[in-house]
Amino acid sequence: MDKLVSLCKRRGFIFPSSEIYGGLGSCYDYGPLGVELKRNIKNFWWVEMTQKRDDVEGIDASILMSPSVWEASGHVTGFTDPMVDCRKCKARFRADALDEARCPEKPSRSPIENKCDLTEPRQFNLMFKTFMGPVEDSSAIIYLRPETAQGIYVNFHNVLQPSRQKVPFGIAQIGKAFRNEITPGNFIFRTREFEQMEMQFFIHPSEEEKWFEYWKEKRFQYYLDLGIREEKLRIHEHAENELAHYAKRAIDIEYEYPFGWKELEGVHDRTDYDLSHHQEHSGRDLRYFDQERNEKYLPYIIETSAGCDRSLLTVLVDAYREEEVKGETRVLLSLSPKVAPIKVAVLPLVRKDGMPEIAKAIYKTLSKHFKCFYDEAGAVGRRYRRQDEAGTPFGVTVDGQTKEDETVTLRDRDTMDQTRVKISDLVKVLTEKVGV
Ligand code: GAP
Repeated sequence: MDKLVSLCKRRGFIFPSSEIYGGLGSCYDYGPLGVELKRNIKNFWWVEMTQKRDDVEGIDASILMSPSVWEASGHVTGFTDPMVDCRKCKARFRADALDEARCPEKPSRSPIENKCDLTEPRQFNLMFKTFMGPVEDSSAIIYLRPETAQGIYVNFHNVLQPSRQKVPFGIAQIGKAFRNEITPGNFIFRTREFEQMEMQFFIHPSEEEKWFEYWKEKRFQYYLDLGIREEKLRIHEHAENELAHYAKRAIDIEYEYPFGWKELEGVHDRTDYDLSHHQEHSGRDLRYFDQERNEKYLPYIIETSAGCDRSLLTVLVDAYREEEVKGETRVLLSLSPKVAPIKVAVLPLVRKDGMPEIAKAIYKTLSKHFKCFYDEAGAVGRRYRRQDEAGTPFGVTVDGQTKEDETVTLRDRDTMDQTRVKISDLVKVLTEKVGV
């Protein structure tokens, strides 16, 4: 993890937020490469979940919602973690994750190993609060959403009518969520501000088993399509005592991070928990009239909930490699070309003999199709290494032969193999290789 965190900083993927002021607890900023990678991951999810399907619609709901939403959803009372305080150093820990926590006075030990003087567990609500309007009293309290899902439930009928969808169908959304986590950590794995990519699938109550299994398999396959190694993925079925307050059944798709197997995405059977609570609290009839069944009912919901930042971390961890090449260590990110921030680096072999001019012209043409990078500074080997670390899957190099036969070398990041390709064929060849 330390090596990856340092690569992320060095190459401009991710920086600590407000770094010049010493950073802000578990908040991060995405740099030039990070923002491209994140956009590509979101786009991949969006295309898979909405564009390629005619039964899922998209929305973008506001982050600030009526406080009634969070009362109805159970988050005001139920979205809590048990916490304990150390009477001596005043540090606060999650009571259910004490073995993972570190005592600030003795960072090599957990509070248990250090025999810290801990209080009894108390429930701590994870929602961030703020005030709406000029008066800062309890009637003006609103929350930063801790999940994007509720923006979908309250818009169920708003989406249903204009889209003319019929149950079963889904609504997808990508957006920020906020949780005042007691023990954030492991870089961007658990942060206080993060993005979710969630899809709520509305179904007839009798079909919950069928759709749960469907989405469980679909979402597992999605990570394989994203290029994640299968042996690093597994499914964990939640036991009764692990279930969130809204879930009847849940599985986690887990990844084996350097710090162990952890949740990457959750698939939840939320039954009609959310719609029935919103119906009760809002006084609006949220039932659906099913013409085929001639029946009015509250649909059940199967939810797929992925973290965008966590997906990005997973993609980076999975892609990080170190190799020995001619006595030197080559560090590379073997990212799938589908999500790599830069698809093609264009390099003149040397900065003379008209090579930069040809390379710049190629760069200009390719940039219309892919995110490219032009680099003429320093030895070509060093430039390749920089691109390997950035995860750029392809390198196009203009050399002495280019002027003679209008070909360039096309270098593959992972194998380092180089083949000659005609300049006029580059767009076609690269479009096939990049695969987007
Ligand atoms: N709507 C259901 C829901 O929010 P969750 O299991 O609490 O379920 C879903 O969260 C996903 O959101 C997680 O699998 C994870 O990828 C991401 N996530 C949750 N909390 C996070 C945090 N503090 N930092 C980063 N990602 C987080």
